[in-house]
Amino acid sequence: MKVIGNLSTGSKANVNPRACFYELDTRSPEIKKVFQKEKPEVVNHHAAFTSVRESAKKPIETNAINVLGTLNLLNQTAKHKASHFIFASTGGVWYGKKANL
Ligand SMILES: NC(=O)c1ccc[n+]([C@@H]2O[C@H](COP(=O)([O-])OP(=O)(O)OC[C@H]3O[C@@H](n4cnc5c(N)ncnc54)[C@H](O)[C@@H]3O)[C@@H](O)[C@H]2O)c1
Repeated sequence: MKVIGNLSTGSKANVNPRACFYELDTRSPEIKKVFQKEKPEVVNHHAAFTSVRESAKKPIETNAINVLGTLNLLNQTAKHKASHFIFASTGGVWYGKKANL
């Protein structure tokens, strides 16, 4: 297993010790080199700026990580013909406040 993360909120101690870890940002041009080397069949994308509250304070950074970072991975996935791209999208922000019925 190969893992990419920038350790912004994550910890290396949580990475499976048998995994090959690349400390990289999803927006980095270096991502291309990882795809060239590893030629993944499946890309499982969980890296994100996840705090809804903080995202409202930092909309540009949030957009860069969650949109441009995801596009960078999608682009490399398509270029290297990986068969699957799994995207763990958000839950809470789509649905809004619960209606009082
Ligand atoms: N945790 C939940 O309950 C839940 C529910 C629904 C959807 N999701 C979605 O699942 C995904 C992961 O959520 P989580 O709770 O595991 O988040 P998390 O914040 O625990 O983990 C995110 C990981 O991404 C890394 N990261 C952040 N920005 C990065 C970047 N630019 N480049 C590389 N790595 C980066 C962080 O260091 C961290 O390891 C998110 O898209 C989130 O919206 C989570």
